[in-house]
Amino acid sequence: MKYSRIAGTGSYLPQRVLTNAELETMVDTSDQWIRERTGIERRHIAGESETTADLAEAAARNAMDMAGVTAKDIDLVIVATTTADCVFPSVACLLQNRLGITNSSPAFDVQAVCAGFVYALGIANSMLRAGSGQTVLVIGAETFSRILNWEDRNTCVLFGDGAGAVVLKASDEPGIHSTHLHADGRYSELLHVPEGVSRGYAEMQQQAYVQMRGSEVFKMAVSKLSEVVDETLQANNIEKSDLDWLVPHQANLRIIKATARKLSMSMDNVVVTVQDHGNTSAASIPMALDVAVRDGRIKPGEKLLLEGFGGGFTWGSALVTF
Ligand code: ACO
Repeated sequence: MKYSRIAGTGSYLPQRVLTNAELETMVDTSDQWIRERTGIERRHIAGESETTADLAEAAARNAMDMAGVTAKDIDLVIVATTTADCVFPSVACLLQNRLGITNSSPAFDVQAVCAGFVYALGIANSMLRAGSGQTVLVIGAETFSRILNWEDRNTCVLFGDGAGAVVLKASDEPGIHSTHLHADGRYSELLHVPEGVSRGYAEMQQQAYVQMRGSEVFKMAVSKLSEVVDETLQANNIEKSDLDWLVPHQANLRIIKATARKLSMSMDNVVVTVQDHGNTSAASIPMALDVAVRDGRIKPGEKLLLEGFGGGFTWGSALVTF
């Protein structure tokens, strides 16, 4: 049996930091409200000319360095993003060119909003196990700041920009044990950007922003993440206590704490970056993973549960031995 394992991680944050104090001067909000309701203290915002592909490239190079691979080793590039540079080509194709990958291997984007990274990881794992390559670059990258209405306090305080990446390699030992991916399109209007290319550019100017019914999203996120955590433990026939780390999507500290409680897990074993990054959508899980790998918390051989929930609704998980 062929498996895939994570051979390297990387991340990149734009330089510009936007604090809660600055947001107080932009919309009717307060540092206290944002911290208490979300746990967010600051977020990074891409520069005017900085694009999702720029962030993705920096994160990818960091992951490739850690994995000790070069462009000629990469058999597949998958980028999870909702904020691509352009309608087409995909960020993955832009990135393939920038990294100098010229072996005609496939490259494509996946759009599952905040669950995008677990979706991309699941697809990469399946393709690798099916024999379509030896080394895969999986990236979550977003410039969510570009689809925020900076006059809407319900949403603009929540999100940030960034990118995270992993290199997956074929392996005889299981690294990724399983992924569990779900969607339920009936809830699409609770969290959406309602306009886009096919609905017309005129409207797009007015409504191409994140719109969210926050408390309803919150309840669904807690409930669906709880279900997928159970599903993952059962599918792998393991106990909660077998997990070393929870590496959750970083949307809201209260959602993260609810999932940790469900797992009877101490917050000491949960990687939390939401205070510094905000919600970076598809980038949040690989960025959190990279932070905890590089600061030495996550060690080889440890068991990680990755989970995410986002617009669509989409949600999913991955059980990983690092
Ligand atoms: N500052 C001050 N007050 C605010 C702000 C703000 N930035 N935003 C909203 N409020 C107000 C609301 O207007 C409301 O006022 P009202 O009672 O006078 O109408 C009040 O605060 C309470 O609003 P609630 O929606 O009840 O607040 P809640 O405790 O649910 O927190 C939040 C809101 C933080 C958005 C929460 O619901 C949440 O995190 N939801 C999940 C969002 C999420 O996880 N999204 C991402 C998942 S998918 C993805 O990552 C793309």
